[in-house]
Amino acid sequence: MPAKLIKGADVAKEIREEIKKEVDYIKEKHGVIPGLVTILVGEDPASQSYVRAKQKTSHELGFYSIQDTQPATISEAPLLALIDKYNKDPKIHGILVQLPLPKGINEQKILLAIDPDKDVDGFHPTNVGKLLIGNPYYRPCTPFGIQELIIRSGARIEGAEVVVVGRSNIVGKPIAAMLMQKAPGANATVTVVHTRTRDVAFHTKRADILIVAAGVCEYVKGDMIKPGAVVIDVGVNEVGQTADGKRILKGDVKFDEALEVASAITPVPGGVGPMTITMLMKNTLQAAKVHHKL
Ligand code: GUN
Repeated sequence: MPAKLIKGADVAKEIREEIKKEVDYIKEKHGVIPGLVTILVGEDPASQSYVRAKQKTSHELGFYSIQDTQPATISEAPLLALIDKYNKDPKIHGILVQLPLPKGINEQKILLAIDPDKDVDGFHPTNVGKLLIGNPYYRPCTPFGIQELIIRSGARIEGAEVVVVGRSNIVGKPIAAMLMQKAPGANATVTVVHTRTRDVAFHTKRADILIVAAGVCEYVKGDMIKPGAVVIDVGVNEVGQTADGKRILKGDVKFDEALEVASAITPVPGGVGPMTITMLMKNTLQAAKVHHKL
């Protein structure tokens, strides 16, 4: 029997409806409107597309939302000044700097400049540290979405062998930290494999839950997956464009093969992607509520 599809797009829609209700309520009852600024540096088409999607969703949910686009030639000092401006702006509760930043800009220095209370991406070292010690404030959006998807798919995380392919700061490291915590929706035995791992397939074939954020199109083949595993494909690889200019996307898992082996799998697109944006909205709502002590 082919694997069940874990439709992130449907789950994301449900969560967005919950968020919208809460936004309407705090607007009506307290006059509070969650505010988000997305800062995009340069003209990377994938980043432009992600930021557009984030803006569209925040407008749909009734947020106060600003898109701040800066040229790729901007240097660190004015970018830091811009972040400082939004740190001080009372209408803005969440600041997101779209990554990657152009070469020549020190990413860590920029992320460090964001007020941790407005760090809705959860990338500031303060928030990374809190996550690691099991006292999370803002959870990074993609891992947060992945955890929610696994929980809602009905898979048991507690005691499961989870294998994460990839060790990025955005996905691999934080999802590993989250799922190993002594906490509900976690308590897994987590293995992280990466580019220097001797035998990746040896590990992936042991996984009850396989999370793939390799950054390589169709990296995980069907014979690398344990029969009955739950597969979460975080990859977004543009493999071409349709006649009307839409991006054709594939994941980091060879989908047709995985479908025959796994018990459940996220499609690309329509799996993890919509969850990432939704969790950003959830974090921004949380930021507004914390700021206004609601
Ligand atoms: N680039 C890829 N994913 C993300 C994300 O979740 N947040 C930001 N800021 N940049 C990204």
